[in-house]
Amino acid sequence: MSEEIEDHRLLNTSDNEPFSSVLERRVSRRGVMRGGLGMAAVGMLGSFGLTACSDDDGNVDLGDDDMAAAMALAFESIAGSQQDAVVVPPGYTAQVLMPWGTPINGGGTEWRPDLSFTPQIQANSAGMHHDGMYHFPISEENASSEFILALNNEYIDQGALWAPQGGPTNAGEGARPADEVRTEINAHGVTVAQVARDADGRWSVSRSAPYNRRLTSATPMKLSGPVAGSPYVVTAYDPTGMSTRGTNNNCASGYTPWGTYLTCEENWPAVFIKNSDRYMDDERLGISTERGRYGWETAAGDPTETDGEFARFNATPSGASAAEDYRNEPRTFGYIVEVDPYTQQSRAVKRTALGRFRHEGCWPGKLVPGEPVVFYSGHDSRNEYIYKFVSTELWRETDANMAGGSYDRLAIGDRYLDDGTLYAARFDADGNGEWLPLEPDAMVPGTAQTLAAALGLEAGDRAGVIIHTCDAADLMGATPMDRPEWGTVDPVSGEVYMTLTNNSDRTEEGTEPTFTEDASEVEALGAAYATAPVNAANPKPENAHGHVIRWREPSPGETTFEWEIFVFGAMPDTDPARNLSNLNAENYFSSPDGLWYDNRDDGQGILWIQTDTGTTPEDDNGPDFTNDQVLAVVPQGVQAGADDPSVVNSANQTQLKRFAVGPNDCEVTGIFATPDKTALFINIQHPANWPSTEDATAVTEGDVRPRASTVVIQKADGGQIAV
Ligand code: FEO
Ligand code: CA
Ligand code: CA
Repeated sequence: MSEEIEDHRLLNTSDNEPFSSVLERRVSRRGVMRGGLGMAAVGMLGSFGLTACSDDDGNVDLGDDDMAAAMALAFESIAGSQQDAVVVPPGYTAQVLMPWGTPINGGGTEWRPDLSFTPQIQANSAGMHHDGMYHFPISEENASSEFILALNNEYIDQGALWAPQGGPTNAGEGARPADEVRTEINAHGVTVAQVARDADGRWSVSRSAPYNRRLTSATPMKLSGPVAGSPYVVTAYDPTGMSTRGTNNNCASGYTPWGTYLTCEENWPAVFIKNSDRYMDDERLGISTERGRYGWETAAGDPTETDGEFARFNATPSGASAAEDYRNEPRTFGYIVEVDPYTQQSRAVKRTALGRFRHEGCWPGKLVPGEPVVFYSGHDSRNEYIYKFVSTELWRETDANMAGGSYDRLAIGDRYLDDGTLYAARFDADGNGEWLPLEPDAMVPGTAQTLAAALGLEAGDRAGVIIHTCDAADLMGATPMDRPEWGTVDPVSGEVYMTLTNNSDRTEEGTEPTFTEDASEVEALGAAYATAPVNAANPKPENAHGHVIRWREPSPGETTFEWEIFVFGAMPDTDPARNLSNLNAENYFSSPDGLWYDNRDDGQGILWIQTDTGTTPEDDNGPDFTNDQVLAVVPQGVQAGADDPSVVNSANQTQLKRFAVGPNDCEVTGIFATPDKTALFINIQHPANWPSTEDATAVTEGDVRPRASTVVIQKADGGQIAV
């Protein structure tokens, strides 16, 4: 997501007590997590035959020469770059794969720079603004050379989409033409396409594959879980509340152990408008009031409109009841959506049990047979929360994905994703934390009220709690975070990492909370008032460059955890006193966003960090400034001392290396490697003037119509990435 579609309003107006603890207190509590990590390292290394040694504090150190060797990154950190090209280390190649507009079946039209898009062409071609993605093997033998690629198309660049006609029609006022709206709707959503690597190492889309399809912001989808069939989601489209149309602003991705793709609805509220009779959740989530982001609702009444396809974006009540209008349409958005990539005709399912908010993404926790399956997710808005879903169903290994098999994976999803407990995270200043249940009958701390009662709901109204997930988390005392983006899990230790991208509304310790007018209804519930002062887990006021946090739980279903800050972002213009991880020209980064734990051999792995800084080469950020990028670090190779503010610190920061840099104005997001680790897939979103050839590293000469694209990074010698 670029700043273009970020919502900078402060929408959480709760009064959760800030943990008035800045740097000093955070540093003093580091010992808690260190003890836990020491134990983790012993277990991990013991099972893989490595040796490690403990120092005086009883912890296991992995970073010193005389200790067990951590896996080494076998590339030199590359310099920052500001050009219209992807930059990778020497010896690596980078190929453009499936950029926006690539036909994925016979219904598309071959891309050309002056191609005029229609709804039909766009519905049969890769969508715009690639974001999260994942791979699904068709066979175990060829899992690294041929698979189904599912990727999110988060939002659109209207200038690029409508370039041949000089831009969109009536972008800011007046009615949008119906076919322009349909085309834009079809440029959003998810692209599913088989891709394959040939003998020369070149990747291409397998256009005739039976899996290929687009899911757009108009595709019929099921609602499932607590909200399905409830009065909250009755619409003229489906008065039974069991289905809706479309998924929107799909940002980060996830996957399930049973072989389905999770696509996550993030900045969807701005495509809807509601001018009256606004619900509390309309306010909290930021439904637009005057004109939607692209004005899709203005095409309503077009003679070609079918089944309210445009009217549904205006949630202002117009009928006698919810079954006659679209007042509840926004309540059918804000979910984790499960897609079976193997079954072209299967309908995607909105899994409402995982909460309703601006979901960045969704990541499975460590899998343990006989224990619940857990999923972590974050709400990417300022001062919003981190969540965890714990399934009621216990994990059976027989449910694991069978590559290419033809069976009902969504029925397995029904068992794990429709019934369970949703929690929000409270990070305490002493390095511990607790998962707070968002259950209707949970008691609100400090009160004699149940959560349902405090929200003004009927007793036991689980659907109502989900609809009001954020308000429920307020009431239970969750910790407001610096915009949670991607998470990832070390599958061996179970440690969870999450990026907190930045937060310019994070204020100094002791700052008085402020009211906002939008808060009136929330305030009436007693959960009102702004809270953005620093807390232990988000210790920087005006956190311009973000940080990465890490936590660990005794087991996946537990409700307690220990946490620490893994690394703080910084840029060349950062006040040295705020460069807490001591970054330098080799690894400066800001606004961490994409994140992936790349599990390698011997219980070790690589933590890949991608950035979304939202600046351009024209910004004056100093000589070491760089475009958005991909960095790598082996977590087992870095450990903080008792007084270090983060795990990456002055003694070990050289272990954090810059691996790739994207073209001007882009963000780099979406990441995985093939199982054999010979190809790293990343996405380049909203580049300004790129790509010009299939070689992603070629510097664009002149002007091109920009296209978001997947980029495949490989070693020229065919070896494993980064090692
Ligand atoms: Fe779509 Fe939070 O990035
Ligand atoms: Ca993101
Ligand atoms: Ca971002």
